[in-house]
Amino acid sequence: MAARPRLTIDIVTLFPSMFTGPFTESLLARAQKEGLLKIRLHSLREWSDDPRHGKVDDRLFGGGAGMLIKAEPVVRAIQALAGKRKRTKPWVVYLSPQGRVLTQSLAKTLVRKKHLIFICGHYEGIDERAMKWIDEEVSIGDYVLTGGELPAMVVTDAMARFVPGVVGDPDSVLNDSFSAGLLDTPHYTRPSVWRGRKVPAVLLSGNHQAIRKWREEKAWEVTRNKKPALVKSRKRN
Ligand code: ADE
Repeated sequence: MAARPRLTIDIVTLFPSMFTGPFTESLLARAQKEGLLKIRLHSLREWSDDPRHGKVDDRLFGGGAGMLIKAEPVVRAIQALAGKRKRTKPWVVYLSPQGRVLTQSLAKTLVRKKHLIFICGHYEGIDERAMKWIDEEVSIGDYVLTGGELPAMVVTDAMARFVPGVVGDPDSVLNDSFSAGLLDTPHYTRPSVWRGRKVPAVLLSGNHQAIRKWREEKAWEVTRNKKPALVKSRKRN
């Protein structure tokens, strides 16, 4: 029997089919099949206040190019999805370039929630008056995308790795790049000599203590070379 999911994510979007692929392949597909994670996609048009045409956007007051998503469908969506699971108040996230930038630590915080609602904006975003129903804005970086769909996929993927059972080997999550505040160490696979290039001998030695030490030193070296700011922000312990 499938486990009861620890986390349910409701994603509200104008383009649910964009999520096919990222959510139907690989680890995210398996996590859902095994009941570790529940992801539900919803078309914002379901909550249109113009049911005949399913329109959810309109022109900007004050002029300007582009269209804005109206407040009413967004708030109706949030209220309807919150109402379905009365026992836990959902955490409502609006994906926006104005939000807090996603980090490994933010992904870890978000995954502790039981129920998340992701609102994906499009066009010029959403009517400011809907912001009262949003708990947090999250960005995936300081650049502007065409909508919140790709960011919602990125945030979901980053969080899913922290759900126990999603990634087969929990050590690989704990030791991966950023979780320890450092970048990942270099990795190698067969053959041990490829085009004349050898795998570092210590990795073939079977000496686990020496391998651990080598990996730790390499992680520091790679981080110092590629992202020195990370070294500065982390105290060696
Ligand atoms: N929507 C558009 N650009 C975005 C970004 N960088 N992060 C999150 N949502 C967005």
